This record gives sequence, structure tokens and C-alpha cells, in this order.
Amino acid sequence: MTEIDASQVSWQDQYKLMVGTVTPRPIALVTTLGADGPNAAPFSFFNAVGSDPAMLMFSVGDRSGKAKDTVRNIRETPEFVVHIVSDAIKDKMNVCAVDYPFGVNELERAGFTILPSRKVKPPRIAEAPVALECKLMQIVEMGRKPYHVVFGEVVYFHYHDGIVNDRFHVDAGAINPVGRLAGKGGYCRITDRFEMPRIPLESAPGAK
Ligand SMILES: Cc1cc2nc3c(=O)[nH]c(=O)nc-3n(C[C@H](O)[C@H](O)[C@H](O)COP(=O)(O)O)c2cc1C
Repeated sequence: MTEIDASQVSWQDQYKLMVGTVTPRPIALVTTLGADGPNAAPFSFFNAVGSDPAMLMFSVGDRSGKAKDTVRNIRETPEFVVHIVSDAIKDKMNVCAVDYPFGVNELERAGFTILPSRKVKPPRIAEAPVALECKLMQIVEMGRKPYHVVFGEVVYFHYHDGIVNDRFHVDAGAINPVGRLAGKGGYCRITDRFEMPRIPLESAPGAK
């Protein structure tokens, strides 16, 4: 076993442990709206939280002691759109992660097409296979760095054709998401999938 006492490790090394250990992580490409216009940035500290209502979260670290544009914008306009990053839009997503100064429209730089959202003010990205319009529920600040954990309620779902059926089953293969691994450029696809049905209690190990 390798054992590591977190209290003896710098935040930089704890970061390496976290991003290398919790993999693969889905990537949210988040659009927000500020005084200087729309903004887009990817976040892989991201996941679903619950379904009544549909809720999700992503977590934003500070940049040089200041809140990133995404958090600054959400404080101003408490709405955002989460796009699932697919293989088709991964390179454009990467442009949105460049540390442009506040006010630069990453969506334009990346070559994305923006469309109006239905229920929130920030625009959505046409090329993204899935766009989830969200209203802010809560921003929780945690940790010493600190991180701003943004919780949102999904109020409107957009899917490209052929992804969701009329029984609300979503074809993950049709989304073709990429996941974040560790390091400077580590990503993965979901091209090696398998099924493992849940075990009913009556046939579970130890059942009589
Ligand atoms: C795939 C990927 C995942 C990222 N995940 C996070 C994350 O979870 N939290 C974070 O604070 N920054 C993350 N970043 C870095 C931000 O995207 C980057 O700092 C961005 O410029 C912030 O933009 P903003 O200032 O417009 O909000 C990630 C970058 C990439 C490429």
C-alpha cells in the first residue's frame, strides 16, 4: 500500500492526487452572462446531484486569488448553461479554457455558434450535443484555496436529434462525451462500454 496523510501534502500535490484519482470526470462547458457579454469555460469538477428537481454542480477554483469570470458572472446573472463536452467539440472547448482577460468572448475565439436559451439569459452553444439551462441554487465556498461550488437547477434540456427518445432514455453513445483524466492533456472516450444489470435481492450473494 502507498499511504499518504493529506495534512502532510501541499495543495498542489493534493490537486495531483485528486485529478489523477477521481477519473474519468465528465466535462461541463459552462456559458454565463456578465456585463461584458457571454463567457464560456470548461469544468471537470462536475457532476449530477439529483433529480427532484434536476440538479447539478461544478466547482471553480480561484485564479491568482480572484474569482474566475464564470463565478463573477453567475453572481451578476444567477443563471448558466451547462454543455456536455463531446468528441466533436473538444478542441473548441480547449480554446475556452485559455486564460483570456475578463471580457474576451471565448465563444467567438473558439468558433462556436451561439443561440438564445429558452428560460435563462446566458446563450447556449449550437454545436454542443446537450445543453442544460440552469438557474443558480447556491454557491458554496469551501476550502482554503478556495473553491466555489456552484449548484444549479436544470430548467430546460436541449438535445441534438437522435440522442433522447420519447421515453426519456438518453443514448450516451450518441452524445459521445469525452472525460477528463489527469495531467496536461489526458482525456478519454466511452468507446469501450459494457452492461452490468443490477442484482435483484433474491439472487444476491447470501440470499436464501
Ligand atoms: C478539461 C478542463 C477542465 C477544467 N476543469 C476545471 C475545474 O473543474 N475547475 C476550475 O476551476 N477550472 C477548471 N479548468 C480551468 C478553467 O476552464 C479555466 O481556468 C478557464 O479559463 C476559466 O474561465 P473563466 O475565467 O472564463 O471562468 C478546466 C480546464 C479544462 C481544459
